[in-house]
Amino acid sequence: MEKTKIIAIASHKGGVGKTTTAATIGSLLSSQGKKTLLVDLDAQRNLTSTFLGTRFSPDMTLYEAFCGHCAIPICHVRDNLDIVPSSLDMGALDTVIASRIQRETILRQLLKSVKDEYDWILLDCPSQMGIITVNAFTAATSIIVPISCDAYAAEGLLQLIKMAEIVSTGLNPVLDIDGIIITRFHTRRSLDRMVEQDLRGHYGELVFPTKIRENATIVHAPIMSLDIISYDPKCNGARDYAGLLKEIEERLK
Ligand SMILES: Nc1ncnc2c1ncn2[C@@H]1O[C@H](COP(=O)(O)OP(=O)(O)OP(=O)(O)O)[C@@H](O)[C@H]1O
Ligand SMILES: [Mg+2]
Repeated sequence: MEKTKIIAIASHKGGVGKTTTAATIGSLLSSQGKKTLLVDLDAQRNLTSTFLGTRFSPDMTLYEAFCGHCAIPICHVRDNLDIVPSSLDMGALDTVIASRIQRETILRQLLKSVKDEYDWILLDCPSQMGIITVNAFTAATSIIVPISCDAYAAEGLLQLIKMAEIVSTGLNPVLDIDGIIITRFHTRRSLDRMVEQDLRGHYGELVFPTKIRENATIVHAPIMSLDIISYDPKCNGARDYAGLLKEIEERLK
């Protein structure tokens, strides 16, 4: 059994709260004294900007590490919290590593030398189901899928599940999908209640009981280069994520 929990936060859709989930759960875990590493796998580098600011431009990023030019670069954020920064170049990674042998296992190899130093490693995936996400699934012990409530919320989810099954059959037998998080939930909108009912009907207990409500504070926090726990620990978003984390920890015991 792996000691470090390595969670890929992935989704078949964009803008559903992957980065917000990684940032908030990472911040909560570190404040509880659990040593946490965040890995920004997305060329948009939103997770990097949240913790290191939009102007921070490190010499080495995950991209250079993927290319074999350096070991995995780790930036210290605060007590118990580190981050591997991303760069815009990650957008070209598919092409750059296309002919590499064992290109699906690059991230797993990179994390090997550092993972024992952490209790949790959170992988913030891009929304494309390409080679970067396959690398995340190959390195992870479990997958968490945020889904926001719109009319096509679950469309594409089956492909993600299929991809996870392929990776777990071939490359990573310990991999499991540990849960679906309903995010950006509008309490008063009937569409959201219908989507929730539908998801719970289809995926049962895989859907975490706690939902993350739509919350304006969540939008403001990253503008100040802060996660929401540091920005306003009492806002609904922070409370929802704290409840969710308890459920995640229970499920991963
Ligand atoms: N519960 C919420 N309430 C309000 N706004 C939210 C919530 N969750 C996320 N957001 C906002 O929605 C936007 C998209 O969120 P986020 O960046 O976390 O999604 P993502 O899935 O990582 O997107 P991408 O696919 O582009 O990487 C951001 O502006 C974020 O602040
Ligand atoms: Mg994101």
